[in-house]
Amino acid sequence: MNIILFGPPGAGKGTQADILQKQHSLCKLSTGDMLRAAVTSGSPLGAQVKDIMAKGQLVPDSIMIDLIRGRIQQPDCHPGFILDGFPRTVAQAEALDAMLTSEKKKLDYVIELQVDDAELVRRIAGRFSCAKCGAGYHDQSKQPRQPGVCDACGSREFTRREDDKAETVSKRLEAYHRQTAPLLPYYRTQGILKSVDGMADIDAVTRQIDQVLRVRTKVAENS
Ligand code: AP5
Ligand code: MG
Repeated sequence: MNIILFGPPGAGKGTQADILQKQHSLCKLSTGDMLRAAVTSGSPLGAQVKDIMAKGQLVPDSIMIDLIRGRIQQPDCHPGFILDGFPRTVAQAEALDAMLTSEKKKLDYVIELQVDDAELVRRIAGRFSCAKCGAGYHDQSKQPRQPGVCDACGSREFTRREDDKAETVSKRLEAYHRQTAPLLPYYRTQGILKSVDGMADIDAVTRQIDQVLRVRTKVAENS
């Protein structure tokens, strides 16, 4: 099963990708996380993208396409993948289609998380994560079970993203509406776009996604 989680900054793509990865044993490719890891490691890729990300702009298509092509062909992605944050431009979507066609694979669903801009800003402003394992939290909607201690690894160190500053968030939202939202008709025409109410709470969003995936499993069983 190959899925794209689609939506604006703060829509919950990363949150749902983590849940789906555990539930379905799929490989998760979160391009933002991959780029942030490159920046932290100080690699040549990290040096190339650091300033672009800090400004809230999109990294050039050629870099992103090479990054995904290299990962999607790895054995851990053979059972299926969840893409979080890719594609973000028509050029990226076309390159992905070409990659999948050459490997005789296809996309099953593009799941759009619909959230309005005011809620996106609220979510991003309250977001923090574990500095050690990266587990994601939120000041209001997802606090660690024991205050100040990561549920996943027990670390007591947390961090906030460099590009979550208010002025950068507005640039990221602008990039989404201008460069990424135009992909919605591209996938709607292919008949694989499914939109869910991303304004619901985290568990309710997961249930809506489950519903979409269950229909696919039933169709596959009956064919
Ligand atoms: P990326 O890391 O992908 O950032 P993004 O798309 O801006 O999305 P976010 O990670 O901010 O949000 P999310 O949808 O994952 O939400 P989350 O689950 O964290 O990209 C960063 C940068 O990298 C880009 O700006 C660009 O520069 C570059 N880049 C990456 N991919 C690229 C590409 N393909 N091409 C070019 N450049 C690229 O949730 C947010 C918060 O809300 C969390 O605190 C969470 O706990 C909470 N929350 C989640 N769901 C709910 C809910 N249902 N109810 C209440 N709270 C919720
Ligand atoms: Mg994310």
